[in-house]
Amino acid sequence: MLERLPSQVSVYEVSPRDGLQNEAAPVPLEGKIRMIEALVAAGLDRIELTSFVSPRWVPQLADAEELVRTLVPKSEGVTFSALVPNATGLERALRAGLREIAVFLSASETHNRKNTNKSIERSLETFAEVVPPARQAGLEVRAYISTVWGCPYEGAVPVARSLELARALLELDCYQVSLGDTVGVGTPLQTRRLLETFLAEIPAERLALHCHDTRGTALANCLVGLELGIRDFDASIGGLGGCPYAPGAAGNLATEDLVYMLQGMGIETGVDLDLLVEAGRVAERVVGRALPGKVHQAGGAMRVRSG
Ligand code: HMG
Ligand code: MG
Repeated sequence: MLERLPSQVSVYEVSPRDGLQNEAAPVPLEGKIRMIEALVAAGLDRIELTSFVSPRWVPQLADAEELVRTLVPKSEGVTFSALVPNATGLERALRAGLREIAVFLSASETHNRKNTNKSIERSLETFAEVVPPARQAGLEVRAYISTVWGCPYEGAVPVARSLELARALLELDCYQVSLGDTVGVGTPLQTRRLLETFLAEIPAERLALHCHDTRGTALANCLVGLELGIRDFDASIGGLGGCPYAPGAAGNLATEDLVYMLQGMGIETGVDLDLLVEAGRVAERVVGRALPGKVHQAGGAMRVRSG
């Protein structure tokens, strides 16, 4: 296994979007900015800032325009992105000045309807009205497939269904498909089988893993992905997060846990772990509750005491 590990991995930070969309108490704009600036200071250079979804559906992210307009001009060298569900969302993202967006759908019909009020087929038709104009406007487009490992409403989801959707999203010219374990049910052998199916026809660089850590298996699943050639992992500071329309969804894999493991294995991420732990403290103060990440709770890497 060891000789197959990469020297470098890209961490895609989703906490401002996936984390804050699920907070019961609204986080003020100023707090979001402080948290995101701490993430940038730690060296994260791909950050999903917010969503241009309906503010009625996700009121926590209703300040998307203001957040993007404040941060984009300040942060050279950082790629900011946001979720876009439809043409209205694209218009808003373009007006606010984003250069990258992400579209999203689920591999299970019930979650897709609960999350977006549409069938999967209708979501794909909607993306055909979003992705080409976004690409013509010079935007990069990422895509998510949720419930790949299992659906909170339907249970097991056939891998063939997710693969078919990934094909459609890549054909639409999304640069990467992030596979979502939305409610954190995946286990390593399942992950290996699932990824082997994807990798038989899709190059590893066009896939990312988006593992929620509901049952503590996210890091183990990412390790399987790493071994199979995946180089892009989504994570969220302190383990913040969850989908408000997926009952039982807890936070994503904590960014500190991912970076700690990668750093310990000699894999470069461009992220400074000490500053990342500091960003976790900022995030904790901003949301006003204790965060579940393991490295966050341990206070960072172990320090050897002298004397
Ligand atoms: P809808 O109610 O069916 O929308 O919602 P509609 O097209 O019928 O329009 C109704 C009203 O909403 C209209 O306004 C539209 O203008 C407005 P009215 O005429 O009534 O005043 N509207 C919008 N306003 C602002 N921005 C927009 C927008 N679109 C319509 N973009 C919709 C359909 C898709 C909009 C809604 O269901 C929605 O916003 N869903 C998003 C839910 C969400 O954000 N979920 C969490 C993110 S997904 C996730 O967490 C999973 C992921 O992390 C991966 C994983 O973990 O697996 C990505
Ligand atoms: Mg998610």
